[in-house]
Amino acid sequence: MDYVEIFEVGPRDGLQNEKRQIPTEDKIALVDLLSGAGFKRIEVASFVSPKWVPQMADSAEVLAGITRAKDVSYAALTPNLRGFEGAMAAKADEIAIFGSASEGFSKGNINCTIAESLERFQPVADAANEAGIMMRGYISCVTDCPFDGPTPPDKVAWVAEQLIAMGCYEISLGDTIGQATPDTIDAMLDAVLGVAGPDMFAGHYHDTAGRACDNIEASLKKGLRVFDAAVGGLGGCPYAPGAQGNVATEAVHDRVTALGYATGLDRDILEKAADMARQMRAGE
Ligand code: HMG
Ligand code: MG
Repeated sequence: MDYVEIFEVGPRDGLQNEKRQIPTEDKIALVDLLSGAGFKRIEVASFVSPKWVPQMADSAEVLAGITRAKDVSYAALTPNLRGFEGAMAAKADEIAIFGSASEGFSKGNINCTIAESLERFQPVADAANEAGIMMRGYISCVTDCPFDGPTPPDKVAWVAEQLIAMGCYEISLGDTIGQATPDTIDAMLDAVLGVAGPDMFAGHYHDTAGRACDNIEASLKKGLRVFDAAVGGLGGCPYAPGAQGNVATEAVHDRVTALGYATGLDRDILEKAADMARQMRAGE
């Protein structure tokens, strides 16, 4: 049976947008529950400015408090060298640099142009490569930007090429505001697949318009087999107006299972984790 990997990003992308400071022990409990669900990779932390994203300020404590499962890689976002050093001190298993295919979102999210962001990522990439740490790359706004409108597919392909040249082992393609359609995903994938094969790419689709699973289906047809998702459909990006949650892990599991793919995930644990995530959002 063909296999689809779901990369769980709930503890990071799902929770980063919550206004209420979620207690560190609740985040740890969520990660510990997810660790038994069968994921290979879980994004649990983000070493960014606490002024920009206060919810992620306890990332080191979360990484210190979780009970690590042997076969799970615990990932962290690192926008610059300082973030990389924080992630290494906290023993993140892998890191991610995160850029954008649109100038408006790059400015809004990381306060620099796309070209400047690539300059900032280079020393992070050098340090990760030197340390032998796996590095993933994110590209936001791969089809639509809340500031600049539609994103030209060639721009996504160009940024992907730069991130791959820096040593990223996989590029996660972000529909940050959940406005993509199967057609715009198709056009974007045609462009990026000119740069590298489908095994180099993951879909990271937010579900604002309720089309994320359809966009995953379109991506499966192009050969992608890795999708980011958050239990309970939590999340959003604080610097993307109108962005809503990631597609729910349990919804992706159900859709790809119905299409005949195995995920290796325990559906009961996913349900429990989704309940826990929803309670966190509700402030219970
Ligand atoms: P900046 O203001 O341009 O840079 O921010 P700076 O170097 O002048 O730093 C500003 C302040 O942040 C300084 O503190 C630094 O010390 C501090 P101050 O002097 O004002 O007290 N600082 C840090 N603190 C802790 N850890 C660090 C760090 N770096 C600087 N690593 C910066 C540039 C990138 C830091 C800032 O813009 C930032 O933190 N942005 C984060 C935005 C973010 O996390 N967004 C959400 C994640 S991305 C996302 O969700 C999209 C994704 O899911 C894919 C998709 O859906 O599209 C991945
Ligand atoms: Mg996201």
